[in-house]
Amino acid sequence: MISEKMQEALNEQVNKEFYSAYMYLAMSAYCDTIGLPGFSNWMRMQYEEESLHVTKMFDYILDQGGQVHLKVIEEPPKEYGTPLEVFEKTLEHEQYVTGLIHKLMDLAIDERDYATQTLLQWYVTEQVEEESNVNDVVAPLRMVGEDKGGLMMIDQQLALRIPPVAPAAGN
Ligand code: FEO
Repeated sequence: MISEKMQEALNEQVNKEFYSAYMYLAMSAYCDTIGLPGFSNWMRMQYEEESLHVTKMFDYILDQGGQVHLKVIEEPPKEYGTPLEVFEKTLEHEQYVTGLIHKLMDLAIDERDYATQTLLQWYVTEQVEEESNVNDVVAPLRMVGEDKGGLMMIDQQLALRIPPVAPAAGN
């Protein structure tokens, strides 16, 4: 059982996670069109990761006897600038999402909603990993700068990212 206020807040976060998935899919298309298939693959895998964030929260609302409310998803931009700018925007977005998750946790603590705190702890940990994964790409991109050879090497690395494994329910 979750409160109406928590149900509404979680539904809002489901929408934000959908937007994240949507934005990374748009970034995947953009990277493909600028000739970076490895970057495109990384973003495609990130899209899949976000889809798992959506369904984990969606399932939790249902498991708690709540009502899912799927809202309109905002349209993401079509263009994202240089490869470095793509990843800087990704980092900025993940930091924004981390802030949203922390606000949800504040609400769960205020409401003494222990079950939702447990759910959100998974997302708190996940956000640390998300930001770290993005930083791992931003750093070498800053190092190579405009060097095309360096960029191609990073592209080959990003091509190796594999699909995420779905989190177990309740973990
Ligand atoms: Fe679902 Fe990338 O945060």
